[in-house]
Amino acid sequence: MKRILLAVSGGIAAYKAIDLTSKLTQAGYEVRVMLTENAQEFVTPLAFQAISRNPVYTNTFKEENPAEIQHVALGDWADAIVVAPATANLIAKLSNGIADDMITSTLLATETPTFIAPAMNVHMYENNRTQHNMAVLKSDGYQFLEPGEGYLACGYVAKGRMEEPLQILTRLETFFNEEPVTNHTHSSFAGKRALVTAGPTIEELDPVRYLSNHSSGKIGYALSEALADRGAKVTLVSGPTHLAQPEHANIEVIQVQSAEEMFEAVKSKYKQIDIVFKAAAVSDYTPAEALTHKLKKQDGELAVTFKRTPDILKYLGEHKTHQYLVGFAAETQHITEYAQQKLQKKNANVIIANNVGDKSIGFSSDDNDYTMHFANQEVIALGKDTKISLAAKILDALETRWQ
Ligand code: C5P
Repeated sequence: MKRILLAVSGGIAAYKAIDLTSKLTQAGYEVRVMLTENAQEFVTPLAFQAISRNPVYTNTFKEENPAEIQHVALGDWADAIVVAPATANLIAKLSNGIADDMITSTLLATETPTFIAPAMNVHMYENNRTQHNMAVLKSDGYQFLEPGEGYLACGYVAKGRMEEPLQILTRLETFFNEEPVTNHTHSSFAGKRALVTAGPTIEELDPVRYLSNHSSGKIGYALSEALADRGAKVTLVSGPTHLAQPEHANIEVIQVQSAEEMFEAVKSKYKQIDIVFKAAAVSDYTPAEALTHKLKKQDGELAVTFKRTPDILKYLGEHKTHQYLVGFAAETQHITEYAQQKLQKKNANVIIANNVGDKSIGFSSDDNDYTMHFANQEVIALGKDTKISLAAKILDALETRWQ
């Protein structure tokens, strides 16, 4: 069981630290919490004690175990430390080596990997002093969970919201899985605009029946999260899925039903987009005529005429200005050959091919096995893995290749 030491400083986002403690505990981490005096103006030690089922630390001089020095032992105990929320004041103290309370003393006395989730008013965040202090900490190896943009308690709608607990959990999972942790500021996706399509489409035959497919949307959602984690602004155009809505501040979700609706949503965003991941399983056909009333059953066979839907990726390839296009190819045979053909036909930069004939992977499964086929003939086999890890591997492969 991995051990997380959560340091909570005194900002209104401290309430989110309670949710974070709960999510970490439910995900199987052992959590211990430290609170500054100011944090206790917003949240109580008891709340964290009840959720973590561990003692909570607030006072450097309250040494309850004579066998150890608490602010040294706690840092050694942890596999990772998360400071969430990290106020401007705490960041300033840490970057200057001040150790005048439980949290700053522990942080100064440890070499354990430490993640910092700033949360503050936008002007405090943008203030040169704060920016300087954060730059010092980054160069010292502290990992930052960048604040998102959104509604701030002070009334501004701007950057400064603490990263969502779910994203912090995801980041820790990635860290413990020993995936390469990409620093936002160093990622080639940071500040870029990405469009991801995900899931199936639904083509209505009549008000109660439709044509669809087994796509779960998992890889498109995983890609959206991974892109957002690397600092991209993501528009996720999603067909109907059973997946939870991403809560990341960098992800805007547009829900659609049919191929036609997906086409319209994608077209409306395309001009401003830098990179497209066309992971949706778009239906190639839709009923030629959508009936306004339920089709009544009758004796004998039923023949329905279908017409083609727009090929969205092909359209994007034809109207490309600067955009980088990543298509997917779900095939049951001749996978490599079809991927190469698709690159040409759709004017895409990469086709990510997989074998949907293998039932242990693909569609609804959590796993897949992808091969990336680049327009310059380069082929990268990513191997069989979870879709979450594959999303990271896809972005790792693209980091240096896509621009
Ligand atoms: O042509 P095919 O369906 O095999 O190509 C798959 C790729 O094309 C996927 O990236 C898929 O999202 C995209 N596609 C599309 N519009 C369609 C059909 C497929 O964008 N109507």
